[in-house]
Amino acid sequence: MAAPNRELPGLRFKLWRLADEFRLNFPPMPHRILLFMIEVEQLRKAFGELVAVDGVSFAVQPGELFGLLGPNGAGKSTTIGCISGLLTPTAGRVRVMGHDVVSDGVAARRALGVVPQDIALYEDLSAADNLQYWGGAQGMRDPALRSRIAEVLELTGLQDRAREAVKKFSGGMKRRLNMACGIIHRPKVLLLDEPTVGVDPQSRVRLLEMVRAEARAGTCVLYTTHYMEEAESLCDRLAIVDRGKVIAQGTLAELRSVLGQRDLLRFTGRFQPDAVRRSLQDLEGIEVVQAEPEVLILAAAEASRRLPAIFSALAASEAEVRETTLTRPSLETLFIKLTGKELRE
Ligand SMILES: Nc1ncnc2c1ncn2[C@@H]1O[C@H](COP(=O)(O)OP(=O)(O)OP(=O)(O)O)[C@@H](O)[C@H]1O
Ligand SMILES: [Mg+2]
Repeated sequence: MAAPNRELPGLRFKLWRLADEFRLNFPPMPHRILLFMIEVEQLRKAFGELVAVDGVSFAVQPGELFGLLGPNGAGKSTTIGCISGLLTPTAGRVRVMGHDVVSDGVAARRALGVVPQDIALYEDLSAADNLQYWGGAQGMRDPALRSRIAEVLELTGLQDRAREAVKKFSGGMKRRLNMACGIIHRPKVLLLDEPTVGVDPQSRVRLLEMVRAEARAGTCVLYTTHYMEEAESLCDRLAIVDRGKVIAQGTLAELRSVLGQRDLLRFTGRFQPDAVRRSLQDLEGIEVVQAEPEVLILAAAEASRRLPAIFSALAASEAEVRETTLTRPSLETLFIKLTGKELRE
């Protein structure tokens, strides 16, 4: 298939050009065991006066799903741009598979797959032709490319629409194809920039499954999002970013412990507020947040383990409990605590 003659703006097009470049100059991989496939050290990127990324550091292992969680303008796409070679860092170091992205960019980019935030597809081409094009740009050839195209079409659930022009696709279908183009060449390091924005729930589920499958297969995945639920359900570790800085980093459990927050227990039923307070006051570490005749809210560390003691104290106060819900400290509450604002602006 001939390359379309109009230029596709954006990251993937530039990667294609770089891919062309690296086929001419293919340096050997260093023979050492890599602990981290992405290493970002004190990364800084300024656009004139504006410092979009301000001293960001993190590292991601093979098979790990690392999240960059932050609101609009936090610097997520700029960070991805510096890793992929689209942008040149103002200061700091970025290595991919041990290769410095500035001094050894060709080798660094060889391992990369990128799913850009702005969909990078040829609208007039079919799904299969887009995959053929991007696979070819990454140096893949038939018959391996043909069978891989069938595989990713199946993974994305687009096999029945493979021959249709992309312009007829829904937003969710385009997002799925955008993802397929990023993984067609089985990259060892996958950069995903908000890949589920604006998709229907069905496409979201499929996309998230694909991301998990990539990590399970050993791919090092960097996933940016401003959806805290996605970060919570998907990522092994994450960095919360705001205004170009990492404000917290770690596993979900570590971040929750930074929060130092207790679980919230909400009971509905019939309560005698004074009697409930008296009855619960002997239980150490349990705070009554709200006690009303029909609602009772308690805060406690490791609340699920304290439930039996809480229920017997409630029974002693002659409370009738109809429903109980336990809410764990969330990234949203952590973000509010650290920045004083909500993640969704
Ligand atoms: N090419 C550019 N020139 C000037 N400023 C830029 C450029 N790219 C990004 N910025 C600015 O850098 C900051 C970080 O932008 P970036 O796109 O990295 O944020 P983001 O976290 O990806 O946000 P979103 O969730 O909206 O995609 C913003 O203030 C943005 O306006
Ligand atoms: Mg962005």
